[in-house]
Amino acid sequence: MEKKPQSEQCPIVLLVDDDQEVLDLLSTILDTDFHVVACRRGRDGLQVMEDHRVAVVLADQRMPDIRGTDFLSQLADRFPDTVRILISGQSTSEDLINAINQSKVAQFIQKPFDAARIRKVVHDAVVTYQMAEQSKHLMEELSLSVRTMQQRHNELSKFNSHLEGEIASQSRRIIQAYEQLRQANLEMVKALAEAIEAKDPYTKGHCSRVCAYTIEIADALKISSDQKVVLEYASLLHDVGKIGVQTGVLGKVGQLTDEEYAEIKLHPVIGENILRNVRFFHPILPIVRHHHERFDGKGYPDGLLGEDIPLFSRIIAVVDAFDAMTSDRPYRNGLPMADALNRLMAERAAQFDPDVVDIFIDRGIFNMRFAA
Ligand SMILES: [Fe+2]
Repeated sequence: MEKKPQSEQCPIVLLVDDDQEVLDLLSTILDTDFHVVACRRGRDGLQVMEDHRVAVVLADQRMPDIRGTDFLSQLADRFPDTVRILISGQSTSEDLINAINQSKVAQFIQKPFDAARIRKVVHDAVVTYQMAEQSKHLMEELSLSVRTMQQRHNELSKFNSHLEGEIASQSRRIIQAYEQLRQANLEMVKALAEAIEAKDPYTKGHCSRVCAYTIEIADALKISSDQKVVLEYASLLHDVGKIGVQTGVLGKVGQLTDEEYAEIKLHPVIGENILRNVRFFHPILPIVRHHHERFDGKGYPDGLLGEDIPLFSRIIAVVDAFDAMTSDRPYRNGLPMADALNRLMAERAAQFDPDVVDIFIDRGIFNMRFAA
């Protein structure tokens, strides 16, 4: 071995030839552009290949220890990226075909040497090597990027699954909290309804029954569940204004005076004013205010006519009257069911919305009063 590689930056060109003169000549031609390493024996050349990244190797075909094609063939298996060039004196076509098939040589250089051709051939070979190296490097980087992206994708998928689980769990908690809140509201409204009934003990259970009837009618009318909640609260609280009416007037046995009747007629408006203080009850305010309107426009407090009266008020008006008629009072017994139904029919389209009366009777909803 006559020359050692000094720089890894400068492409290394390995020369293997037993003829020192040939080595000197080739070194002179090539060492201006490349880092040339010259060896006189095949095994020394192999050692250089082991120790360094060699871009191009030029090997003579006729050497004492190994043929050039055999030497290059070994390199093709172990160092496939290195570009292999065969130097030969006189080569037959068969030699060339064998060299291509077995040694996978890229080029031949024949003696005697043409310096310019050798420079060009080696220069092209170095470019080929560098492009292959660059391509390999890019492939490694690409492969690393793909692995990194795959890893991030896996991490994101894992995080996403975790997030989906969290969202589902939060949603369950929100639904649970909403349900608890809705239940608490309903209990509060029922407590308020009981407070109204406490003022007039003879109407005990009235609000709950009115509520049960109205929900049945709402189902028959296919009213949405959100709206049914509004109707439920309104039916429980429709008489909340009675809190503002004197107990003596509410529980009076016998005929009411005009003043007393006028006071009782204030309860829808009093109720509306009480409930107005709570934003949650705002949707039921018009229902409470108008639950004593008549379909023929002769009711109170505003004398609204027909469908100008809120639908839920018209529903409450029918079931409120039916429950009052069929309930016992200190001064009278409740009417038999048939009589109460006849009175509803008699007031159909007068006091009451005819459609609501029809649903209440035709669907047998009135039976709830007696089935309970
Ligand atoms: Fe009322």
